[in-house]
Amino acid sequence: MQIGILGGTGPAGSALGVRLASVGFDVVIGSRSRYRAMEVVDKLLDRWDGRNLPVTAGDNADAAGADVIVIATPWDAAYGTATSVAEELDGKVVICMANALTRIGKEFQPLVPPRGSVAASVQAAVPGCRVAAGFHHVPAKELGDLDHPIESDVLICSDYSDATRTTSEIVAKVPNLRPLDAGGLSQATPIESFTAVLLQLNVHYKTRVAVKFTGIPEAAVPPDDGADEGGTGAREGSE
Ligand SMILES: NC(=O)c1ccc[n+]([C@@H]2O[C@H](COP(=O)([O-])OP(=O)(O)OC[C@H]3O[C@@H](n4cnc5c(N)ncnc54)[C@H](OP(=O)(O)O)[C@@H]3O)[C@@H](O)[C@H]2O)c1
Repeated sequence: MQIGILGGTGPAGSALGVRLASVGFDVVIGSRSRYRAMEVVDKLLDRWDGRNLPVTAGDNADAAGADVIVIATPWDAAYGTATSVAEELDGKVVICMANALTRIGKEFQPLVPPRGSVAASVQAAVPGCRVAAGFHHVPAKELGDLDHPIESDVLICSDYSDATRTTSEIVAKVPNLRPLDAGGLSQATPIESFTAVLLQLNVHYKTRVAVKFTGIPEAAVPPDDGADEGGTGAREGSE
């Protein structure tokens, strides 16, 4: 499977890119500038020389040509970036990892974007794609350090069960990451907002936290909820 990352030149997208490449996905790091993507990919391949990571560079349109697309831009750029490659995204699973946050003094505060979450605004920008929200709480530095395993639960939500399933399968390929089906896309609002709490903990305890939930049996991929019947891929109750 090829995974394209829009805004993949930042810390989050490039970290996710190398981690996914390390478990066998072909990754395209996308950028508004193909040359910036090439520079970033050169640096990543230099850092992880000897691992033969299947990572290539392109512009965002190239990345959007992949099988599954991740949006790793700042929150206020996600809608415009998705719109700019809407044709390529049509019919595909799009994973949105953007968090709408701001820092006021020493406090991280969640923002409420139009439609309640960044993921919902991307779904509205490109109605023909199937957005799943995921990877919001995985710290980039640890994610991108291939010398060390990263341990975290990954909350995923979508109005399309096949988008949740595809995202879960991608997450589950990474050792010690556990995908959790958190429900429909409306859950993206609290999932994105909760990131502010994690960043606040990072500041307070001078660390980088990740989330791990107790009480859920260790199942890598959530069971199929059968909501695909009829072939629409939409969860029951979604439009
Ligand atoms: N950092 C983390 O630990 C972490 C973890 C989980 C989720 N996230 C989320 O992942 C997203 C990316 O985080 P980041 O720290 O990597 O962000 P970032 O460095 O600020 O931005 C990522 C990339 O987005 C592109 N970009 C920036 N402004 C843009 C604009 N106005 N229009 C279109 N593209 C633009 C840039 O790529 P080009 O200039 O090359 O186009 C940039 O390299 C954020 O929403 C963040 O909340 C971050």
